[in-house]
Amino acid sequence: MKRVLIVVLLGLSAATFAEGGVLQGSCSSCHNIKGPAAQTLKIAFEKKGPDLFYAGNKYRQEWLVSWLQKPDRIRPAGMYYGGHIKVGAKGDEIDTSTLMNHIALSKADATSVAAELMKMKPHDDLIAKEKIEPGTISMQMGEMAFNKFLGCMACHLIEPEYGGLSGPELYTAAKRLQPQYMASFIRAPQVWEPKSMMPNKNLSDANIQKMVRYLESLSKEAANAN
Ligand code: HEC
Ligand code: HEC
Repeated sequence: MKRVLIVVLLGLSAATFAEGGVLQGSCSSCHNIKGPAAQTLKIAFEKKGPDLFYAGNKYRQEWLVSWLQKPDRIRPAGMYYGGHIKVGAKGDEIDTSTLMNHIALSKADATSVAAELMKMKPHDDLIAKEKIEPGTISMQMGEMAFNKFLGCMACHLIEPEYGGLSGPELYTAAKRLQPQYMASFIRAPQVWEPKSMMPNKNLSDANIQKMVRYLESLSKEAANAN
C-alpha cells in the first residue's frame, strides 16, 4: 500500500519536471495551449487566460522570459472587463480586489517554458503575409489616428492611466509582441480569435503600417520614461 503511494508521487513529480511538464500541468488549467481558438461566445467567456497555443507567432521570446519571472498586469481589468468592475463615485471602477496576481516562475523555468512556447507556431501562414515597412510616424499623428480616426482608444491604454480598460494595454505592445503579429491581429482579429471583442475596422494597409509604427514608438517612449 505504502509503496504504491510512493511510486505514484514519484511519477507525478517526474511528470511535472519533465520537458513540457509545467505548460501541460499548471499553465493549461487557465490557458488554451493546444488550440483551436474558442468558436462560440460561451467557450470564449469561460477562458481564464489568453490563448497560448500560437505563442511562437505572437510573443518576443526575451519578453516572455522576463515577464514569466515578474508578471505585471497587462489587461487592466483582467481577462474580461465585465467581471472586475464595480460602481464607484465617478462611474465604473476596476475592482482590483477581484484580480489575481499571475503565478511567477524561477529564471530556469521561465527560460525553458518560454523556449517551449516559442515552438508553438500554427499560424506561420498569417505571419508570412505581413510585411513591415521601415518608417516613422510622429507621436501626434499616431495618437490622432489611434484615438480619433480609428477609435482604438476606447479599449486600449496608451499610457498607464490614459485610454480604455477592456483590452490589453498597448504602451508595452511592441515590447511584448512581434510586429507581424500586431499587423495581422489589427488587420483581422477574428482570424486569430473568432470571438474577439475587438472589432475588425477594415484598416487599409497604410493604416496598419501606421498603427504598428505608432505602437513601436509608444513602447520606446514608455521604456524611456521608466
Ligand atoms: C489561474 C489562472 C492562470 C494560470 C495557472 C496561469 N495563467 Fe497565465 N495568465 C492568466 C491571466 C488571467 C492572464 C492575463 C493577465 C493580464 O492580462 O494582466 C495571463 C497571462 C499570461 C501571459 C501573457 C498573455 C498575453 O498575451 O497577454 C502569458 C505569456 C502567460 N499567462 C503564461 C502562463 C504560463 C507559462 C503559465 C504556467 C506557468 C500560466 N500562464 C499560468 C491566468 C493564468
Ligand atoms: C471594443 C474594444 C476594442 C477596440 C475598439 C480595439 N481593440 Fe484592440 N483589442 C481588444 C481586445 C479585447 C484585445 C485582446 C484580444 C482578444 O481578446 O481578442 C485586443 C488586442 C489588440 C492587439 C493585440 C494586443 C495583445 O496584447 O494581444 C493589438 C495590437 C490591438 N488590439 C490594436 C488595436 C488597434 C490598432 C485598434 C484600432 C484600430 C484596436 N485595437 C481597437 C479590444 C479592442
